Amino acid sequence: MPLHQAAVGSQWWKSGVIYQIYPRSFADANNDGMGDLPGITQRLPKLKELGVDAVWLSPFYTSPQKDAGYDVANYRDVDPLFGTLEDFDQMVDRAHELGLRVMIDLVPNHSSDQHVWFQNALNSEKGSKERSYYHFKDGKGENGELPPNNWQSMFGGPAWTRIEDGQWYCHLFDSSQPDLNWENQIVRDEFEDILKFWLDRGVDGFRVDQPHAMGKEPGLPDHPYVDEAGAGFIEGRENPPMWFQDSVHEIFRSWRKILESYPGERAMCGEAYVLPLSFMAQWVRSDEFHQTFNFRFLDAGWDKDTLVAAIDESFEAFDGVGAPSTWVLNNHDVMRHASRFGGDYGRTTASDGVGPENPQPNNELGIIKARAATLFMLALPGASYLYQGEELGLPEHTTIQPEFRQDPTFFRTSGQRVGRDGCRVPLPWEDGNESNGFNESGKSWLPQPQSYAALSRDSQETDSKSTLNLYKAALKLRADLALGEGSFDWVSTSESLSFVNNGILVVHNFSNESIPFPDGEVLLTSSYGQTRLLPNTTAWIRL
Ligand code: GLC
Repeated sequence: MPLHQAAVGSQWWKSGVIYQIYPRSFADANNDGMGDLPGITQRLPKLKELGVDAVWLSPFYTSPQKDAGYDVANYRDVDPLFGTLEDFDQMVDRAHELGLRVMIDLVPNHSSDQHVWFQNALNSEKGSKERSYYHFKDGKGENGELPPNNWQSMFGGPAWTRIEDGQWYCHLFDSSQPDLNWENQIVRDEFEDILKFWLDRGVDGFRVDQPHAMGKEPGLPDHPYVDEAGAGFIEGRENPPMWFQDSVHEIFRSWRKILESYPGERAMCGEAYVLPLSFMAQWVRSDEFHQTFNFRFLDAGWDKDTLVAAIDESFEAFDGVGAPSTWVLNNHDVMRHASRFGGDYGRTTASDGVGPENPQPNNELGIIKARAATLFMLALPGASYLYQGEELGLPEHTTIQPEFRQDPTFFRTSGQRVGRDGCRVPLPWEDGNESNGFNESGKSWLPQPQSYAALSRDSQETDSKSTLNLYKAALKLRADLALGEGSFDWVSTSESLSFVNNGILVVHNFSNESIPFPDGEVLLTSSYGQTRLLPNTTAWIRL
């Protein structure tokens, strides 16, 4: 019996390829240097051409942009930076016309400090109803001058900020992102309504931000091993009081019911950083999330044994609850894989970012491995997530100067952790003006590195060996051969790692020597013009 059996007649989200659009950096129609919704609408045909099934948009809501829009001040409107609600509707209509589904980001763990609820809380008394929407507490120490507990912010520093009347509020991220109190029914009702607002506008689903942070252990006790784990957790140890609380599951169940009450196949994907995957499986039970990101796979890097273990663990855990495995190599929070695989970068460095002072990646090696990794991933059954720009093989921008930095991590750690700006740089569309076709003005909220000109989409379109054309070929074959719905079985986990899916042998050469191609028809390889399978190369072979 194969490790994973083929799914029959499955819904789109079980096998689809979902492309993450980072609106700030995708395309800028009004030339102000910041991407926008009309820019997305204009360029959607290029994503159809690429061959993806759906797009997921990072936040475009009203926001002071302290965390690039993950600080939402109004969940039911579009920030003027990105356009208007009408622009949003046009974008959705255009996507649907092209046969693309649209998922949007939902940020429920925290709002912006500019949200009317938080402003009202600040203007209300201790213990008031207004304060109960968030986690306000008195501090410790004689005069309450110490934070209520030892929790740390994911972006550095304490997870508490003190306000004028002496109380403190909790923020697991930036101080401009106060955590909402999900014990409060009004908060729950409000988010159900927000879901309906966007479902009524036609969205096909949601990517849910930090769902594993929403529940907090009653009384907000100390993190039991903060010295070792900082703001995070250590796999195999007890759950800290701010992560993975059981109370979150009934919230997801109520959301699932709402999604299912709408026509069509609406879906939600949780950005649940929950490990091990056997624990994560509880989050994708049939009445909770449809799927979650597989960070085990992303974190495996390009290490053979870790990768094999991650894939085994994924099929075992997700198949066990009838949920699709998902696969992902990039997003707006980690170093781009074309650079990440060109150096020795673990999970922490990948999300803390790489700056001019850090060891620089070998991008020539990185792109070879990245192309191979993508070909490997796109042949795995399940849903796959792509992040804008990876289809161009864009490297991380690792030499952004401090004056351009925007990530709150950079500011909260006084530049010690440079943060995630390096993977968020505007896309090069046409080799030409200063922003390479991101807009006509040449303005760009983050500068592009010089290497982006040669990687612009138009120059890659005419180059048969380009990364863009490799992605297109892979996505087309994946669809034609129904690999997303297929089955999975290892053939070899020796130096040439190989598996079979729907009669296609997928082989990656992990050794330092070239090896003969296995028998069969070579359909696609991650590097061209070879008679043997080179090191760091993946091939798809019809048996
Ligand atoms: C998620 C987002 C990240 C954001 C954080 C806080 O991890 O992907 O970009 O900073 O949540 O909302």
